[in-house]
Amino acid sequence: MSEQSPGWLMDGWPHIWLPYTQMQTADLPPAAVSTSGTRIALADGRTLIDGMASWWTAAHGYNHPHILAAMSEQLQRMPHVMFGGLANEPAFTLAKRLAALTPGNLNRVFFADSGSVAVEVALKMAFHYHYNLGDSRRMKFVAFRGGYHGDTTGAMAVTDPDEGMHRLFRELLPQHLFADLPTTPDGLERFKELLAEESHAIAGVIVEPLVQGAGGMKFHDPDLLQDIAGYARHHGALLIADEIFTGFGRTGSMFACDQARVVPDIMCVGKALTGGTMSLAATIATDAVYGAFLGESDARALMHGPTYMANPLACAAANASLDLFEREDRLGQAKALEAMLAAGLAPCRDLPGVEDVRTKGAIGVVEFRRKPDVIALRRKFIDEGVWIRPFGNIVYLTPALVATHDDISALTGAIHKVLSS
Ligand SMILES: Cc1ncc(COP(=O)(O)O)c(C=O)c1O
Repeated sequence: MSEQSPGWLMDGWPHIWLPYTQMQTADLPPAAVSTSGTRIALADGRTLIDGMASWWTAAHGYNHPHILAAMSEQLQRMPHVMFGGLANEPAFTLAKRLAALTPGNLNRVFFADSGSVAVEVALKMAFHYHYNLGDSRRMKFVAFRGGYHGDTTGAMAVTDPDEGMHRLFRELLPQHLFADLPTTPDGLERFKELLAEESHAIAGVIVEPLVQGAGGMKFHDPDLLQDIAGYARHHGALLIADEIFTGFGRTGSMFACDQARVVPDIMCVGKALTGGTMSLAATIATDAVYGAFLGESDARALMHGPTYMANPLACAAANASLDLFEREDRLGQAKALEAMLAAGLAPCRDLPGVEDVRTKGAIGVVEFRRKPDVIALRRKFIDEGVWIRPFGNIVYLTPALVATHDDISALTGAIHKVLSS
């Protein structure tokens, strides 16, 4: 601990349990005290250039004045009111806007409080959809190896069973069907066979469109997404697009599905929905999926309702974030970042141990052959004045879409310097 460490850091440290961390050997995390744009200020006086956008949420950079103003106004008026039985303007407005923004007839928005919960809702929705249509056998989901959909039980069950951190819980989880992403003709044949053999039991196919994020930032082509969508439909399975990472410009289009011109039956969004200010997610269904829930009996209705669903403060932030997507050229900025990241990371290709360097939209990745000491790398990046959090065998950048050329040069330069040392 340095002399400038604030009292709350040491006072709270014996009581904190950090995410994805072996606490016995954990470092005291650097104390973040304020944020602005693409900068994170630390308690010791240093300022870091942010390469993460706080787990891909802060699309417009931190503390964007338009979002803060909308939130302040909503905070004074009504920070929260229950959604069970009461309506609130920010949520209704946001639902209408999301229906307009998402492709095709994805018109019904069910709000949730985190991405994982949005995935839980999607899985329940898909099973219940078939049930309401008179088919109660469709209880399984097809998910892809390398995929990640969250840390709650249902979401863990469709996350990669070996590499996805949840191996320990295998016996606890419902058993679904895992396929390799069908990137080759043989792979596609195997995927088709799986769907054909199990079609009577499959409720849906869940996929992270174009980018498997937390599973290693692996990219695939829009064509492949089209194939997956086509075969899922052919066998009566719903297509669930988990756009929690890819949504809101991260891949260069508003949603990754847009690039493949695929309209899923259910889409999950979260993370950047509020521009990096509050936790909010949504499960968005097509008219056809929604229609199957209509009827005289409550038994046909979707039985879900998180306490803080449709929180007005979070919805006000999300509306303000959508204003910014409308007023400013975020998608153009994301595309420009792709070129900057590609140029900045290209020299890393020649470094020892580097397997691959790749970029898609505002995502830049350096992949190693072997897993490096990611904690040591994180410390070195902080010494270089950048906030970069490598995991597994990758170092990656997912900066705010408003990051400047200088920001990207500093971030990519730091990566090259640290990996060369
Ligand atoms: C694709 C995807 N789905 C779901 C989740 C889970 O979201 P949350 O952490 O908000 O529960 C994540 C989080 O990283 C994600 O990347």
